[in-house]
Amino acid sequence: MKLFVDSASVEAIEALMPLRIIDGVTTNPSLLGREAGDPHDTLRRICRVVGGPVSAEVVATDVDGMLEEGRRLADLDEHIVVKVPFGKAGVAACAALAADGIRVNVTLVFSASQALLAAKVGATFVSPFVGRIDDLATAGMDLIGQIVEIYENYDFTTSVLVASVRGPLHVVEAARLGADACTCPPKVIDALFGHPLTDIGLERFLADWNKTRGGGA
Ligand code: E4P
Repeated sequence: MKLFVDSASVEAIEALMPLRIIDGVTTNPSLLGREAGDPHDTLRRICRVVGGPVSAEVVATDVDGMLEEGRRLADLDEHIVVKVPFGKAGVAACAALAADGIRVNVTLVFSASQALLAAKVGATFVSPFVGRIDDLATAGMDLIGQIVEIYENYDFTTSVLVASVRGPLHVVEAARLGADACTCPPKVIDALFGHPLTDIGLERFLADWNKTRGGGA
């Protein structure tokens, strides 16, 4: 399963790259709006750092606006994937952009029917938001299972990119369900590393070594 960073912070993304586990980045207007400087420069810098798919979202809400903005974003760098919000305009824009060979990530997906429509118009990625579904006391991960099943039934090539991830359990469940990718805030990526027994085990190994062989010889 591919692991993406859900962030628009060049510094946070740069800090994760040496781990060699990051395959791409997703941004959205909320994340990009928090960063200082020109958003297009920030996206170009992220593309250079990651060298893999970087989702950049349109803020236009009509088809023509989405197409114009999407094409401008796609021209920024070969790694840009144009993100469009799900809806009639987003679906139409996805179809047109995909026909031009531009990769599209259909975002704000909350149902299997929405994911089916995104795949039909050639989305490269579909982004179901599991955490925001959980927030409504409904199991967000159930949606991932449904989408994976539907895509497999028809050999759709759209990748399931699990979004709105809140913790390591979402990541593990996504991998168990066969999702193609999971996008995580940096703090969730950090949390994937942690286990208290690893820390205790290492501490004990080093203490034993120092008592026997390492003791100032
Ligand atoms: C990613 O594509 C989404 O924009 C992001 O995961 C949304 O996450 P949130 O629900 O934590 O804002």
